[in-house]
Amino acid sequence: LKFHVLIPAAGSGSRMGGTLPKQYLPLNGKPLIHHALSLFASASRITSVHVVIAPDDALWSQHEVDHGSKVVVHALGGATRAATVLNGLEAIAGQVAEDDWILVHDAARPGLSMVMLDRLLDSLQEDAVGGLLAIPLADTLKRADAGQRVAKTEPRDGLWQAQTPQMFRYALLKQALQQAGGVPTDEAQAVEALGFSPKLVPGELRNLKITYPQDLQLAEAILLADAR
Ligand code: C5P
Repeated sequence: LKFHVLIPAAGSGSRMGGTLPKQYLPLNGKPLIHHALSLFASASRITSVHVVIAPDDALWSQHEVDHGSKVVVHALGGATRAATVLNGLEAIAGQVAEDDWILVHDAARPGLSMVMLDRLLDSLQEDAVGGLLAIPLADTLKRADAGQRVAKTEPRDGLWQAQTPQMFRYALLKQALQQAGGVPTDEAQAVEALGFSPKLVPGELRNLKITYPQDLQLAEAILLADAR
């Protein structure tokens, strides 16, 4: 059984402001996407890594993201993240087995570590369904009304924040995304819609998704601390 990685990197990153898609924003001297890519490229348990960029992406080649021979780029991004992932899965049909594991990871999560990756693979490789890295919610949740006042405090018991990688077998993930259309915001949601219950594997705060400009500074500090 093999493990393959699929990185959707066709988003525009509109919440970051600016015009450079966030996967190319500089983080410690390298494009954001470089950091997760180099981790997967150096992971001996990972057989292949597939990056799905937008069809009109002129920046990938300009940025010369360093990567090894395991990395393949597909200019097949779709209108939604789910469509981008599905296009990637269809592109690699024939190169992977139906029951090989696919790990979908956000280009915008540079803080994934080998420790977390190994934990995910070890926890799920014998699993019937698959699952994802996630962290139990730390903050109290407030539901807002139209005037931005608290309408309700939501109980946080049993709530987790989904991270990536999200790891499912090739055939199940493809079927889930085909049936879900462009709606789900993560792969687990599409698999859940088929009636399966993905396993939550403990992630870490450092595996944050870069969404707002200030997130970059936090990621920079995390990666600099690693380098020391
Ligand atoms: O926008 P968000 O932070 O949710 O994006 C998560 C990941 O999905 C990013 O890596 C982004 O590039 C990717 N994405 C994509 N195709 C889209 C939208 C988002 O590959 N149409």
